[in-house]
Amino acid sequence: MPMDLNKNLIKRSLLEVFNKYGYGRDGLELIKRLGIFAGSIGYNSFLIGGFVRDIIIYGMKINPETSPRFASSKVFNIYKKEKGQGICLDIDIVLEGNAERFAELIRKRNDTGFAINSIKVHKRFRTATIEFLINKKPLKVDLASARTETYLSHGALPAVSIGGTSLKDDVFRRDFTINTLSFSLNPDGCGSGAGLPRSAELAFLAVRDYAGGLPDILNKKIRVLHDLSFKEDPTRIFRAVRFEKRLGFGIERHTGIFIKKAMGAKVLDNISGKRITAELNFLLKEKKPEIYFTRLEALGILEGIYPKLRFTNDNERVFRKIAKSRKNSQNTHIFYIAELLHHLNRTEFNAAVERLALGEKIKQIILSMYSDEKKLASLFSKLDEEDRKCADKLCGNGPLKLTNSEIYHMFKAFSENGILFYFFKNNNKSRLASNFAKRAAKYINKIRFIKPVISGNDIKSFGICEGPVCGSILEEIKLLKMDGKLKSKDAEILYVKNKYIVKKMEGGGKK
Ligand code: CTP
Repeated sequence: MPMDLNKNLIKRSLLEVFNKYGYGRDGLELIKRLGIFAGSIGYNSFLIGGFVRDIIIYGMKINPETSPRFASSKVFNIYKKEKGQGICLDIDIVLEGNAERFAELIRKRNDTGFAINSIKVHKRFRTATIEFLINKKPLKVDLASARTETYLSHGALPAVSIGGTSLKDDVFRRDFTINTLSFSLNPDGCGSGAGLPRSAELAFLAVRDYAGGLPDILNKKIRVLHDLSFKEDPTRIFRAVRFEKRLGFGIERHTGIFIKKAMGAKVLDNISGKRITAELNFLLKEKKPEIYFTRLEALGILEGIYPKLRFTNDNERVFRKIAKSRKNSQNTHIFYIAELLHHLNRTEFNAAVERLALGEKIKQIILSMYSDEKKLASLFSKLDEEDRKCADKLCGNGPLKLTNSEIYHMFKAFSENGILFYFFKNNNKSRLASNFAKRAAKYINKIRFIKPVISGNDIKSFGICEGPVCGSILEEIKLLKMDGKLKSKDAEILYVKNKYIVKKMEGGGKK
């Protein structure tokens, strides 16, 4: 074990992370008790996968000797960004034993001291998910029986073999060395299942590194475990980029060659559009997705998905704008995808949509965004002209002043997505363009939500109208309200009565 990674550092790292996520010392206590429980039923248990990788990297970040080298690695940063939004950790535990049995036994005899919110058992894969409650906050623990996987054909999901499998066997089915590290959870000196001896290796939080994950973390390398890894599971190509960029690591030379070879063998053709899109979505969730897509482009991966897919400097600029304007939410993905496909002609667009299995609904949304974007560009050039005249001649200094209802009329035919997409794409930095953007923002954030206080039923109750007429009165009130001419429900009622009831009565009188 390297000097800079001792048990105390792991413990400190775990504690800090559990604290960050609001679980405090109880988080650590829970995993300890799960280890005790596993020992009590004759199983060895290990924390494994991304959580362990990130705990170790976080340990490097808080260790003064190594922190400068790991400062750019983004681990456990999401909490800071989305504080208070119920983000919880995903913890993976692998058992030298049967995860399904573990879950069933804990259902009967939960002596961890922490409440269980739910237990889900997945019989087929012998996995289970237990959601504990720590200070009323959920903490999800995924349990898996140690297993080996065999790929019957490249790109297909693997055949799983469970039973009598050790942690060591399990480790070699995994993607990268940095994801194979584990911490033993059994209490100090308690070894039991799979014929393992009682030893220091089984002490609580002892590190197991069968594949050289630790040196790869220290040297910041993404390395596969064998040369067929990408052919067997092509989604790992996307994962390599994801971890490389997120952690500030580099893809190790041979691993890079294996990616090239796999791309040369067109391995992405072996996986479904849904799986590709899921991987792209993972990249889009990262903080600066443009960095990940630039890398995909450089490695020829976008081309491997669909021959006409590219990622240019211009795409990068738009991606940056999208990321800056909106917090990463599922909704943002549609803008990135729309941008990625924007340069394609209609036939290519249809083919790419099909390859990515985006579905008809998303396709139509994107097409309507493209159409709105075009119309807005032409609206802007007309307006630009008017604004110019106004600025130069008619109105002195400022641009053409527009009332809220005029702004409403300007944008009401466009969808929110279309308007936003136009602004993400637009690179015009002139004062007039920024004016146009301000108006659009005012429409999106405020004007479009302005509604009359009175309802159609109120108007009907005055006995003046039915259906469509009522609708047009409401629209009229809405516009007046937008322009600040009607400020309360009473003012709206008075307006309707004065304009329509009086008029009706006058009309009636003449008859
Ligand atoms: N894994 C793998 N091959 C894959 C997907 C996953 O070997 N194609 C293994 C890795 O050991 C990984 C673990 O399963 O660490 C858990 O997968 P996942 O939760 O997808 O990955 P994380 O490493 O936890 O990634 P993230 O930090 O993005 O959640």
